[in-house]
Amino acid sequence: KKTIRDVDVRGKRVFCRVDFNVPMEDGRITDDTRIRAALPTIRYLTEQGAKVILASHLGRPKGRVVEELRLAPVAKRLAELLEKPVDYVEETVGEEVERRVAALNEGDVLLLENVRFEPGEEKNDPELARAFANLADLFVNDAFGAAHRAHASTAGIAEHLPAVAGFLMQKELETLGRALEAPERPFTAIIGGAKVRDKIGVIENLLEKVDNLLIGGGLSYTFVKAQGYEIGKSLLEEDKLELARSFMEKAKAKGVRLLLPVDVVVADRFAPDARAETVAIDSIPADMEAMDIGPKTRELFAEVVKSSRLVIWNGPMGVFEFDRFAHGTNAVAQVLVDSEALTIVGGGDSAAAIEKAGLADRVSHVSTGGGASLEMMEGKALPGVVALDDRE
Ligand code: 3PG
Repeated sequence: KKTIRDVDVRGKRVFCRVDFNVPMEDGRITDDTRIRAALPTIRYLTEQGAKVILASHLGRPKGRVVEELRLAPVAKRLAELLEKPVDYVEETVGEEVERRVAALNEGDVLLLENVRFEPGEEKNDPELARAFANLADLFVNDAFGAAHRAHASTAGIAEHLPAVAGFLMQKELETLGRALEAPERPFTAIIGGAKVRDKIGVIENLLEKVDNLLIGGGLSYTFVKAQGYEIGKSLLEEDKLELARSFMEKAKAKGVRLLLPVDVVVADRFAPDARAETVAIDSIPADMEAMDIGPKTRELFAEVVKSSRLVIWNGPMGVFEFDRFAHGTNAVAQVLVDSEALTIVGGGDSAAAIEKAGLADRVSHVSTGGGASLEMMEGKALPGVVALDDRE
C-alpha cells in the first residue's frame, strides 16, 4: 500500500482518519496510548506543511450526539502531546467545518467532532463520504483499530481522494501481516479470553500456520471438557464441544502441538475475595470454577515460548481484572518480555493486561487494534486497508 511518504503533502488539505477511541472515566482519558500512537503521522504531516484535518470515532453513539462522547478532552490531550495548538470544531461536516478548514495554514491541525454522531458514518453513506472528501485533497488512514469497519470515514472517503496509509497503519500491517504471511519458526500462538465463539475464526486460521497453539482462559474449559475432564462450574459452551474436539483432531493431523491447561486456580464463586485453590486439571471440584491457569501450566507455556522465534498472544489466561487471578496472564506477559522471539500482542484485553503489568514497551509490538487485529488473525481482508491505493 502507498504511505504518506509516497505523496507530496505540502500545502495540501489532508483528511486523516485516526483511532482516538480511548477509554474515558468521568470525562477524563484513562489511557492515551492510541493518541500517542498517531503522533508520528500527525507530526510528519505538520512538519511537511500539510493542513491536517483529523477525524475519529469515540464509543458507539449510533448516529446521535452524545455529550459524553464529544472529542473535547481528546483535543486537549492531543495539543499537550503535540506541544502545539489543536483547533477543535464541535461538528463533523457542514458550513462551520468548511470555514475552519479554509482558515487552516500549513502545519495547522484541526480535530473534527466524533464522526459517529453522523447517522451516515457507520452506514458508509455515499453522501457523507463525499462531504468528508470535499474537505480535503488527500485521505490518510492511520486508524488501524477501525480498519475492520467499512464506514464513511474509513472506506467510503477513499473512493473520492488519493488514499494512503499513515505510519501507525503501516507498522501494524507490516508487523502482524508479515508475521502471519511468512512466520519465523517455531511459531507459537497463545489464545485466551472468555469465549470459544469469539475465537473460532482465529483458531481455524492459526491452525494452518502455527507450530504450537497454547490455549488458556475461559474458552479453554470447553476444550478441557472435550478432552473428557469434569470442569465443575467453569465456563462451558456446550454447543462448541464438537468444534473443540474437531480443532484438537485437526491439530493432531497437522502436527500442531495444541496445549491446554494442566492445572488451574479454582474459586468457590466469581469474586476477588473468593475461596481459591490450585488443582490438577483432572481434579476440578464440582462446585468450583476455574479462574486462572495454574503454576504448572505457566511453566509449560513458558517452556514453549522460550523455544519459539515468533509468538503472537491474544486474550487473557484468566480473570485478570481481579489481581489474585491475574498471575497466569501476567506470567505470559513476562515470558514474552524475556523471550528473544518476535513478540506480538493483539489489542483489546491482552493489550490492556500487558499495559497494566507495565510491560507494554518491552515486547516487539502491541497492536492498537482489538477487533482489527483479530480479523487479521482470522485471515480476513480489512475494508479500511483494501480501500487504500496500491503502490504502482
Ligand atoms: C476498537 O476500539 O476496537 C476500535 O476503535 C473500533 O471500535 P468499534 O468496535 O466500536 O468499531
